[in-house]
Parts: sequence; C-alpha cells; structure tokens
Amino acid sequence: MKQNDVNQSRRRFLVGATSVVGAVGAVGAAVPFVASWNPSAKAKAAGAPVKVDISKLQPGQQMTVEWRGKPVWLVRRTPEMMASLKADVDNLADPGSERPEQPAYAQNNMRSIQEGEVIVLVGICTHLGCSPQYLPEVLPGEATGGFYCPCHGSKFDLAGRVFKGVPAPKNLQVPPHMYIDDTSLIVGVDEESA
Ligand code: FES
Repeated sequence: MKQNDVNQSRRRFLVGATSVVGAVGAVGAAVPFVASWNPSAKAKAAGAPVKVDISKLQPGQQMTVEWRGKPVWLVRRTPEMMASLKADVDNLADPGSERPEQPAYAQNNMRSIQEGEVIVLVGICTHLGCSPQYLPEVLPGEATGGFYCPCHGSKFDLAGRVFKGVPAPKNLQVPPHMYIDDTSLIVGVDEESA
C-alpha cells in the first residue's frame, strides 16, 4: 500500500471513530432527559405532559399531538397570518380572550407565549366537541384563514378566537404549555405548575 493510501485509510478511520464517539455522547446525554418526558401510554392517557419537537414545523404548517386523549394542534404562523390577527377583530365574539379559555400568559392578541408565532390549541370545537379543520388560507365567508368546524359551521381565527354568529360560544382552549428551548415545548404543564 502506498503511503498516500495509508494516510487516506487512516483519515477515514479517524473520521469514523470520531463520529461514533460524538453520536454516543449525544445519545448518552439525551436519554435521561427524553426518558423523563417520555411517559408510557397509560401515563399519557392519565394526563401526563407531552414533549413536542417543533424544529421541523414550517411557517404555515400545523401538527397534532395527543394530550389527555385530546388532539392538540401546534401551528407556526407566518408573518402575514400574525398581521391578519390584529387587522380585523370586529367579527370576533371575544377578541380580547376575556373568557378564561387560556392561561394568563396566552391572553394577548396572538394567544401564545410572548405573542410568539407558534400557537398551541386543543383541537375540539367549543360547541359540541367536533374537531375543526385547519384552513390556513381562507375560511368560508371570511377574508382570513383559521379553523372551520364542519359539524355546524363554527369558525375560529388563527389564534383560535371564535367568530360572531356561529354556534360555538367560546374561543378554542389554549392548554398549559411551556418552552424547553427554541425547538421544543411541553404540553400539559407550565412554569406555574412545573
Ligand atoms: S360541534 Fe363545532 S359547530 Fe357544532
């Protein structure tokens, strides 16, 4: 084997060895943390908090997780979506979210922690409990997107605020939640209850 080939092989070996050590280190560090937020199916059904990775949630996308047997939506709103929430509040029944359908830290125009782009909502209509559809572009008869309940036509904006003149009496519920870091959060617990 030529000296050049030996060096190439050695370099490949070293790169491979370094990568494995790095990966083992990362897994070793991650396991205790994930395990502590990875409850069994039984614990989840009983209401254990659910850790959610939102790193792949793109602007405009919705994802769904299950908490206490209910669907919980997470939507990363675009700047245009955020702007639409401030623009037209006259058509909403409770634009200031005065009724307590959210923790205090989510009682703002965006109904999110620090008015951030990601909203967390329990995906159950406040009328009779159907699961509304996410219509990001436009709701039937409205100028903006939101959530539409096909059962009896209730409409909610992109902050889960209910429109006037529909059967649903209240805004969609914002469950307790808190961020762990920029790319993950926990549903079912917040800093007050942690
Ligand atoms: S259950 Fe949603 S409108 Fe009736």
